[in-house]
Amino acid sequence: MTTYLAANDAPPRNTGHIKIYSLEDFDAMEAACQLTAKCLDAVTELVRPGTTTRELDRFIRNFGHDHGVVPATLNYRGYPHSSCISINHVVCHGMPSDKPLKNGDILNIDITFIVDGWHGDSSRMYIAGTPKRAAERLVDITHDCLMAGIDAVKPGNHMGAIGAAIERIAHAERCSVVRDFCGHGVGTLFHDAPNVLHYGRADEGIEMKPGMIFTIEPMINLGKPHVKILRDGWTAVTRDRSLSAQFEHSVGVTEDGCRVFSFSPIGLHKPLTSNG
Ligand code: MF3
Ligand code: CO
Ligand code: CO
Repeated sequence: MTTYLAANDAPPRNTGHIKIYSLEDFDAMEAACQLTAKCLDAVTELVRPGTTTRELDRFIRNFGHDHGVVPATLNYRGYPHSSCISINHVVCHGMPSDKPLKNGDILNIDITFIVDGWHGDSSRMYIAGTPKRAAERLVDITHDCLMAGIDAVKPGNHMGAIGAAIERIAHAERCSVVRDFCGHGVGTLFHDAPNVLHYGRADEGIEMKPGMIFTIEPMINLGKPHVKILRDGWTAVTRDRSLSAQFEHSVGVTEDGCRVFSFSPIGLHKPLTSNG
C-alpha cells in the first residue's frame, strides 16, 4: 500500500512515504532548480577541449558560493565534489579530475544546489569541440527520452508510464536504457521516495498525484545497458565501453500534467547539434 503524506507532516528522512507538496513548495523548489539551471547555463562556455573537469567543478562550487548556496553532492555519503561530470562511456557519478577534455568528448554535468532547504537537481549533456555523428545522435535521442518521460507525467498515470515512454524511444533507436540507476523523489530531501524507473510498463508503479515532486534522469547507452562501478567506488561506466548520455529534470505533478522546474531560462536545453 502506498501512503501519500502532506510534506509538512513528513519526518525529515526517507520513510518511503510519498510526499505531497503545496503550490508554495513548488515555487520554492523552482527557485532552487532555476539557480541550478543558471549554473548549467553559465558553465556552457567553459566546456571546450583543454578544460579539465576539475576546473568545471571549481566554477560550479564558486557559483554556489557567490549565491550563498552549497551543492548537495559535496560530502554526500562521502562524495567529495560539487558536481558529477561523466564523460563518454561514463554513465553517471563521474568524478571531476585533472584530465583535460578532448575534441569530440560528450559529457554530462549534474548539479544539485540546496536553496532554502530545497534541492534543485538537474543535469545536461555538453560537447567539447566537434562531436562524432554517433555521439551527437545519442545526445539527441537521450534528450528526446527525457522529454517523452516528462510528457507521461500527469495525475492518474502510473509511474511506469515514464519508463515505458523512455524505453519506447530508446529501443526504436536501437539504444539501451540503464537499469542500475533511477530518478527519485526530491524536494526537502535529496533522494526520497519514490524511485523513478526509466524502463517498465505503463501500468506498473504507484499512481501519480498532484503535489508529487521527483526527478527523471534517463541514462541511455549506444551499446548494452550493463554498467560497472570503478575502484573509486563512484564512477559508473558501461561494461562494453559504449557511449552513454543522460539528461535530468526535476518536475512537479500538477492538476493536469507537470511543471518542469529546471528548464534553462535562456533555452540551453541541450547542446546545439546538426539535428537542431
Ligand atoms: N545528482 C545525482 C542525482 O541525480 C546524485 C549524485 S550523488 C553523488 O541523483 F554523491 F554522486 F554526488
Ligand atoms: Co537526481
Ligand atoms: Co542529478
